[in-house]
Amino acid sequence: MELAYKTALITGGTAGIGLACARLFAREGATVVITGRDAERGKQAAAGIGGSVRFVQADLSDMASVRALLDEAGEIDILVNNAANFPAALTVDQQIDAYERTFDTNVRGLYFLAAGLAPGMLGRGHGSIINVTTMVARKGVPGAGVYSASKAAVESLTRTWAAEFGAGGVRVNSVAPGPTKTEGVEAEWGETNEELGRALPLGRTARPQEIAEAVLFLASPRASFITGSVLHADGGGSAV
Ligand SMILES: NC(=O)c1ccc[n+]([C@@H]2O[C@H](COP(=O)([O-])OP(=O)(O)OC[C@H]3O[C@@H](n4cnc5c(N)ncnc54)[C@H](OP(=O)(O)O)[C@@H]3O)[C@@H](O)[C@H]2O)c1
Repeated sequence: MELAYKTALITGGTAGIGLACARLFAREGATVVITGRDAERGKQAAAGIGGSVRFVQADLSDMASVRALLDEAGEIDILVNNAANFPAALTVDQQIDAYERTFDTNVRGLYFLAAGLAPGMLGRGHGSIINVTTMVARKGVPGAGVYSASKAAVESLTRTWAAEFGAGGVRVNSVAPGPTKTEGVEAEWGETNEELGRALPLGRTARPQEIAEAVLFLASPRASFITGSVLHADGGGSAV
């Protein structure tokens, strides 16, 4: 029970990697708040996990919704910034609305959620923020320009927040997953995700739980001296 007496907020905890995190965190004794836009999916996800899990509907691309989430969340010890949009478009084809939605969700929503929760963590003298980024934050992948740039911004925020919050006992890290088999990514990227998986040293895509284990480690006391880092859970993709 590594997370007993901790409360964790996992954005996008209703599907894929976020749902796998919610399951692991609940198993480790945390009280878990999961968010997503689809209320029906959220309620079903919360009911299916067991333990102390609550769903709060929130759209991170919408600042009013981010503020409402901050009002509803209560005291949070661990924030997993996982929800994201990952549009596929070549630069010459990129639509402005998808560009804006991606940065509004992946960067602005994440930024102000963390900014709103950090004072409580700092006031209590402890906390952990884990930003789920991506292997392609540091790689050139055709069609991933907007997505990769948004996640590179989040890796920069990880370093800034580690510097700003460390003295107050709050650790901030990133997990950078490689291609992972989730419904969301399959819907947007189709077979490309599996192709990316085959090109990794480990030769396959990840299971969501394999990424969630890395997130759990960074959230746990085992990572008590780790802040400002990126944990590459990518089957070796960043090494080649
Ligand atoms: N799967 C991969 O190959 C892969 C690789 C590297 C990094 N990642 C990163 O891992 C994270 C999770 O990806 P995933 O594949 O697990 O995604 P997923 O299966 O599509 O799940 C996405 C989750 O985020 C929620 N969400 C999406 N947009 C949202 C918004 N605007 N506001 C609030 N919630 C929103 C979704 O719920 P609703 O739709 O109901 O809102 C869902 O709960 C993302 O940060 C992604 O960039 C994934």
